[in-house]
Amino acid sequence: MELKFFCREIFLRFFSILLFLTWLPGLSYLRTMNTEFHYRSEPAEKLAIESVSKTFNGRSGKVHALDQVSLNIKEGEFVCLLGPSGCGKSTLLNIIAGLDPPDSGQVLADGKAVTGPGRERMVMFQESALYPWLDVLGNVLYGLKLKPNLTRSERRKVAHFYLKLVGLEKFVHAHVHELSGGMKQRVALARALAPNPRVLLMDEPFAALDAMTREQLYGDLQEIWGKQRKTIVFVTHNVREAVCLGDRVILFSRSPGKIQDHFDIALPRPRGMNSANLANYAAAIDERLKELLKKEQGELNELKVLNG
Ligand SMILES: Nc1ncnc2c1ncn2[C@@H]1O[C@H](COP(=O)(O)OP(=O)(O)OP(=O)(O)O)[C@@H](O)[C@H]1O
Ligand SMILES: [Mg+2]
Repeated sequence: MELKFFCREIFLRFFSILLFLTWLPGLSYLRTMNTEFHYRSEPAEKLAIESVSKTFNGRSGKVHALDQVSLNIKEGEFVCLLGPSGCGKSTLLNIIAGLDPPDSGQVLADGKAVTGPGRERMVMFQESALYPWLDVLGNVLYGLKLKPNLTRSERRKVAHFYLKLVGLEKFVHAHVHELSGGMKQRVALARALAPNPRVLLMDEPFAALDAMTREQLYGDLQEIWGKQRKTIVFVTHNVREAVCLGDRVILFSRSPGKIQDHFDIALPRPRGMNSANLANYAAAIDERLKELLKKEQGELNELKVLNG
């Protein structure tokens, strides 16, 4: 009887050890499946703009710059904000950057409310705003002050890496006044990229450049975005530029600044400015933009009549 009991005990223990051993690889497999599932799922929401409104009290009265603007931007998405002058594009970009607070509503970055600027969200403006007393390398190194945990030599390595990425490796010691407009914007781009922000906010960064330089930079920016998959919010009032760069084009109208339409741009990359498909998209968006402007003008005229 005792022997039978003993044998049963041995068998049960042996069986449970066997079960445990087969369960371990199974578990790690499940873990891999879970991670894979995590990576394969839809990209996470990087930025959530929730009912953002902003009014300025200017010298000539109140300006309702943004009215209840809501927009979700996914991780790695390239979104262009397009609209006529004064529709609140820069105001919204500054609010996303944390440079200006909204009157109501909020911006969430990775689910957390934006309350000020941070190196996770770097801004690039129309003017390069480089420091003229520093050379090219010095300007990029200056941006890296936002990463105080790097050693001096690590900072130099990072700066050289990004200057190479924007094609300026031969100009690291050039002074700012020796650079062309396009080169200055490349330095500004390297400076914005160097702290490795996950979000790049660009306010008409190429507007002051000639068409040829601009086109080159469209190619470069698409290539860099392809390699690094940053989330980019790009402000422009150039329809073709928006179609060339954006996964999505968000159309704004004025007075007050509001989102009126979204266009998904399903064109392969890299996109050239002269492609027929790009021209078709641009024509459709242009048409919609004109329609909105006409409506806006009609409403303005009505207001004038009502106000005598
Ligand atoms: N600091 C400010 N004080 C007063 N009014 C402002 C201020 N900043 C912006 N505005 C007004 O808010 C409105 C939106 O301005 P914003 O600069 O966001 O427009 P935008 O779409 O970027 O135009 P553009 O394409 O010309 O750059 C405009 O009417 C502008 O005059
Ligand atoms: Mg602007």
